[in-house]
Amino acid sequence: MNDQTAWGFETKQIHAGQQPDPVTGARALPIYQSTAFVFDSTEQAANRFALSELGPIYTRITNPTQDVAEQRIAALEGGTAALLLASGQAASTFAVLNIANSGDHIVSSSSIYGGTYNLFKYSLAKLGIEVTFVEDQDDPAAWQRAVRPNTKLFFAESIANPRSNVLDIQAVADVAHENGVPLIVDNTVASPYLVRPFEHGADIVLHSATKFLGGHGTTLGGVIVDGGRFPWSEHVDRFPGLTEPDPSYNGVSYTGAVGDGIAYIIKARVQLLRDLGSAIAPQSAWQLLQGVETLSLRLERHVQNAQAVAEWLDSHEDVATVYYSGLPTSPWYAAANRYAPKGVGAVLSFELKGGVDAGKAFVDNVELFSHVANIGDVRSLIIHPASTTHSQLTPEQQLTAGVTPGLVRLSVGLEHIDDITADLERGFAAAREVVAAGRAA
Ligand SMILES: Cc1ncc(COP(=O)(O)O)c(C=O)c1O
Repeated sequence: MNDQTAWGFETKQIHAGQQPDPVTGARALPIYQSTAFVFDSTEQAANRFALSELGPIYTRITNPTQDVAEQRIAALEGGTAALLLASGQAASTFAVLNIANSGDHIVSSSSIYGGTYNLFKYSLAKLGIEVTFVEDQDDPAAWQRAVRPNTKLFFAESIANPRSNVLDIQAVADVAHENGVPLIVDNTVASPYLVRPFEHGADIVLHSATKFLGGHGTTLGGVIVDGGRFPWSEHVDRFPGLTEPDPSYNGVSYTGAVGDGIAYIIKARVQLLRDLGSAIAPQSAWQLLQGVETLSLRLERHVQNAQAVAEWLDSHEDVATVYYSGLPTSPWYAAANRYAPKGVGAVLSFELKGGVDAGKAFVDNVELFSHVANIGDVRSLIIHPASTTHSQLTPEQQLTAGVTPGLVRLSVGLEHIDDITADLERGFAAAREVVAAGRAA
């Protein structure tokens, strides 16, 4: 048997967590499109329910296709276990609800995806969980000031859009750990090929697998990965849900039953997923895994194209500012070199000199770039965040998330770089016409 942990990233993305099907010999991963799984005996059934044997029961909670995808992604992140869910939103929701209850408090960077911001600010508030947003995520003292006795976790994105901020993972993890709470990192924009948060102190990683992990713009999914190093049982007062008996699951203590290394993921699976039901379809798990198998290759080209586009935009006379931490002028260039030495991904933003009207004309006139609310597709994508992805936030909230009125966001795809820049030039020409018409009027 190979030591899978010693494999390189490129090998893991193809092989980790999978053997040829023992019954048919199928080499590619089969889609186990079955809602339930036969137990060999009543004893085995009882053991599976008691968690003394981990194996499939019912597809809402476990499924062999999902299991391979989970093991593969956990291996790529360097974690101990993973839970695949129906969407990235489900992953963020579960990651928090797994350790925070009504009456608790969490601390989050304000540089996060608009949907996560809404979840934290409004939906969690309805459940009695309060959030403090840290506006300058680069200031460890600001994280410390936000901590309260009932704080349960810190949350941030490794690379946040639209400003391309790179999180100082180690610094924020240190503050979290000094206060006995885990750091949860949304690693969607980076993917584990570019940033591996566990290597810098993060405790839990999550993804919208809908983006770069899947990579082809076809399938929704989310995943939570456990780094396995947070010592839950040393904090029994803070995380009783993990350490104390769960009356809804035969009085099991998750840390007692499976140990600190995988207790967080097991609880999320057998308690939250059992009760909330945000399961991913086996077909979707399989589709996402098709993408994962080429992750490193796609990301190399994504980064190459995005870096070229960022440099090209930076020297363009119609552009006021480019936000991409792969540029030496970025405030996050040093952090990018430390945490993402292979590149900072394919999402970048820029401000046109012509403002809002120029920005809208630009988006309306590109052809190769698709105008969609998504990132992480093989296709190049474009959007005007203020009127779309961040439109449910107030103008002030938009500004704290880095969204100015004239900002245009790109997710640079895998097309030929010359076709990408030619298309952007089409947008600039349209924007110039709008600005000229405005002056003439
Ligand atoms: C950084 C980030 N996290 C989470 C999500 C939510 O993921 P999903 O759309 O798969 O629910 C998104 C979606 O855009 C995202 O960009």
